[in-house]
Amino acid sequence: MFDRSRKGERALLLQAQPPGQHDPALLEEFAELARSAGAGVVGTLAARLDRPNPRYFVGTGKAEELRELKNALDADLILVNHALSPVQERNLEKLTECRVVDRTGLILDIFAQRARSHDGKLQVELAQLKHMSTRLVRGWTHLERQRGGAIGLRGPGETQLEIDRRLLAARVKQLQKRLDKVEVQRNQARRSRERSALPVVALVGYTNAGKSTLFNAMTGAEVFAADQLFATLDPTLRRIDGLECGPIVLADTVGFIRDLPHDLVAAFRSTLAEAREADLLLHVIDASDPERDTRIADVERVLAEIDAADLPQVLVYNKIDRLESGVVRTEQLDRDGPLRVWVSARDGIGLESLLAAVGQSLASERVHRVVRVPAVSGRLRARLHALGAVASEQLDEAGWAIEIDAPRSLIEPLFGMPGGEGDWLKEALLAPTTVATYNQSGISRA
Ligand code: GTP
Repeated sequence: MFDRSRKGERALLLQAQPPGQHDPALLEEFAELARSAGAGVVGTLAARLDRPNPRYFVGTGKAEELRELKNALDADLILVNHALSPVQERNLEKLTECRVVDRTGLILDIFAQRARSHDGKLQVELAQLKHMSTRLVRGWTHLERQRGGAIGLRGPGETQLEIDRRLLAARVKQLQKRLDKVEVQRNQARRSRERSALPVVALVGYTNAGKSTLFNAMTGAEVFAADQLFATLDPTLRRIDGLECGPIVLADTVGFIRDLPHDLVAAFRSTLAEAREADLLLHVIDASDPERDTRIADVERVLAEIDAADLPQVLVYNKIDRLESGVVRTEQLDRDGPLRVWVSARDGIGLESLLAAVGQSLASERVHRVVRVPAVSGRLRARLHALGAVASEQLDEAGWAIEIDAPRSLIEPLFGMPGGEGDWLKEALLAPTTVATYNQSGISRA
């Protein structure tokens, strides 16, 4: 149904930057995106721009230059590294007599090529429909005008337009309904995972940082990894056993990118939910990327957009095999800062350190203790139950022995409970002497 960019298209890239600013990395990344979509880059054009021009996005002179360059290079596709309004896109197409795709359209196209799971495909199609609906309608009117209202064409054209509009609206509705259903199923799956209480560790990071390679290396699985952007679109989950901290679920997620179109963030909410609801994020960074600090900031921004900025993180500096002084090490710069681990996913170097860091971080984020609560203090016990923090419990003449197993962030608000119970709980959980002093064999598993 959609006009995807076909493999081997000859693309001309347009990149605008404010006067006085010149960041070659922007264009390089855009070229990488274009190649990921299967296009061949035949040329680039830079424009200095104070603010977008409503007609062509760039000024008229620059737009003319674009047309001439397109003809000289025999390009059949113009890619613009910005979000264009439908009007700007159409005007540029008319002037250059060439198909014009903006940054959002290009990223959607790559997503469309990569989506493999059922709901991944649905989400991409919905985002594409939303992005294209205004363009499709305008596209038709533009086509009609070109035909110059030739006899016999005008009427059917209008009818077709109306039919298309109706079909489009119906399709959007149908997709939304199916997606809602998929999301319910996904939530159920997530909840049953929560019930099994396995901590979820999600790999996040800039596209091409090496998340899938790391996922494979950590799980011994064979998830598709390729030197192209967004090779992984759908979250993949795998259980890892044999860790000191107990079993975990590892989730591979979609790669992030600077200026991820807002529609896409919304469209991928269920995919990104794996990251948002994780117990720990492994933020994978391409250590050999000269832009790595900018990339880290870009990822932080997307994490903030999906409400995942406050989750505990381990920073994983990957691809150390490409660094001259690439050695495996684990460090913590600030006392409360994240652990940083240096690894090579490709060569399987530093994985033990990484797993140890995961264990260490999860342990510090989780409370797993048995506490004794007098039978009369029902309030605290009730609160713990309400939070789902009780793994097991047993009553004897001394009171309740409650096995608490929950994220620290869930328990901490209870420290403020009045009547001394909060203080008591805090002490009980922090004091090293309370570690499993109760005879655990006496505790029955719920
Ligand atoms: P997206 O799906 O785009 O988000 O990418 P990703 O982060 O999952 O990256 P992926 O694992 O697909 O790896 C991207 C490229 O980097 C591939 O060509 C990998 O072979 C390469 N790569 C991954 N890890 C390493 C590493 O430790 N060293 C080197 N030299 N290359 C690596």
